[in-house]
Amino acid sequence: MNEGWFEEKTEKISSIGGYQKPELIQDSVKLDSNENYVISKQFQNDIISSARRTSDIREYPLGGVERLIRMISKFIKMPSSMIGIGNGSDQILDLILSNFASKETTILTSKPTFGFFEERCKLYGIPLIAILFSNDMKLDVEDFITQSKNADILYLDSPNNPTGFQFPKNELQKLVKSFNGLVIIDEAYGEFSEYSFSQMVKTCKNLIVVQTLSKSFGLAGLRLGYFIANTKFTDAFMNVIQYPYPVSTLTIESGIQALEKSNLMKDTVDIIKIERKRIIETLQKYNTFEVFDSKANFVLFDAQGSYKRVYSALAEQGISIRKLGKIGDHKGCLRVTVGTKEMNSKFLLAIRDLLG
Ligand SMILES: Cc1ncc(COP(=O)(O)O)c(C=O)c1O
Repeated sequence: MNEGWFEEKTEKISSIGGYQKPELIQDSVKLDSNENYVISKQFQNDIISSARRTSDIREYPLGGVERLIRMISKFIKMPSSMIGIGNGSDQILDLILSNFASKETTILTSKPTFGFFEERCKLYGIPLIAILFSNDMKLDVEDFITQSKNADILYLDSPNNPTGFQFPKNELQKLVKSFNGLVIIDEAYGEFSEYSFSQMVKTCKNLIVVQTLSKSFGLAGLRLGYFIANTKFTDAFMNVIQYPYPVSTLTIESGIQALEKSNLMKDTVDIIKIERKRIIETLQKYNTFEVFDSKANFVLFDAQGSYKRVYSALAEQGISIRKLGKIGDHKGCLRVTVGTKEMNSKFLLAIRDLLG
């Protein structure tokens, strides 16, 4: 190995760029990261306080992961032996990629797909076949079936971030059944959508469904994700691949508390779905916007030539949304998270003041 290999490798990794976090705007109406603000901060604080009381952080959380998994098992009605956890679903996806994919394996996905996943593939040099969304932000399942034979792994975020698109259930079933390699279905926004594929893992040995408490449970800062997969994979992942103590004692105890009170999460999801409809319908009234349907807790719209102006005008008023720019033929895409009724009204009023 040559002398400068470490510097060269560092240089090469630096040039990849990495995942772009949203701009940090102090005290903003934060509608840029698909978080859930409908769940109150007080409720979350109570969970954390109670978790603190039952935790002894002098100790490693021996047995804690197992207790958490039993709770997830009760929540999703799948056996514990088919469930694994990670430090956010980001970490689960990363560990799957670093252990099951390489320069020699090809991944079939959509364009756009979840940004972090794409960046991770770049980091590991994993080749992608990415199928473009159509102009109305939909995907054609037949395009995926045609490309299946050229790929080892199929990765789909369902619903997709940033479009909010989800295949009709029968179409995705057809695709998953026809794919011979590893299938990863990322359901980070599953609770806001029409269906989940978690039960399908029982009959589909090559399927991994990834879910998270970051979005519907409003626990993005806790960093807790989980997956459902066949028992052999789950065992290998949890006992060999995953770190011995992947999440903190406080995360484990808070996660258990949140899952015990999952009815509250379901109530907030109902509110978010109603608000999503209001945002879509209101934005549709502006001729300058093309608004896309969404099955997630965010809405994508194309503000065309005025997208930078819209983004900056909102930012000046302390409203932070996500600036995406060009997606396919759409030149000025913006993505707004569905927040509380008050947050959404502020966003919509600011748009009205700007364009109305
Ligand atoms: C499609 C998708 N998958 C996974 C994640 C990551 O979630 P987590 O907070 O569990 O790491 C996100 C977060 O934005 C996402 O959009």
